[in-house]
Amino acid sequence: MNKSILLVLSLALAIACGKKEASAEDNYQPGGGEATTEAADPASYDPKRGEGKYDTVELGATLDQAMATKGEEVAGVKCTSCHKMTDEKLVGPGWKGVTERRTPQWIMNFITNPDPMIDKDPEVQAQLEICLVRMPNQGVSDDEARGILEYMRKNDGVK
Ligand code: HEC
Repeated sequence: MNKSILLVLSLALAIACGKKEASAEDNYQPGGGEATTEAADPASYDPKRGEGKYDTVELGATLDQAMATKGEEVAGVKCTSCHKMTDEKLVGPGWKGVTERRTPQWIMNFITNPDPMIDKDPEVQAQLEICLVRMPNQGVSDDEARGILEYMRKNDGVK
């Protein structure tokens, strides 16, 4: 599938990654419909945790404002060209509600280690089919990733 994904990448960039309504794009399957067949060994993949070094992530009861501000800065450089803070898609899914959809460890693992999760996580594969773009590894440090998570919590209303 990877080669065909690359082939349709330019197409994908031309086609705005629309909202979730059923559309021709949603049903479009790169590579003649083999896009979902790559899920590797689902038995060893925990969809609540993802894959990477984070088993648990401790969250404060309230928002760490300074951390969120740092995360907002990093996101502005590395993420918001593809992600909006609303529930609207840009290149990737909007971030509104992401801290409710995903566990903190899933988010931290995905930000720092997207590649294997794009290959194995059923929900990410569904997003990939809609977006037709693989999220690139942005080389985010642990601290930066934690800041971004705090910024996402702020965006989801944690005070
Ligand atoms: C080139 C565009 C692009 C950039 C830059 C990008 N992403 Fe993504 N992101 C995507 C796409 C596309 C997806 C959907 C999964 C896929 O197709 O790989 C995604 C999915 C996600 C998800 C899962 C969302 C959900 O609703 O489950 C998170 C979290 C995320 N990205 C965080 C980040 C962070 C943090 C950064 C910056 C460090 C970032 N992304 C940078 C394109 C991008």
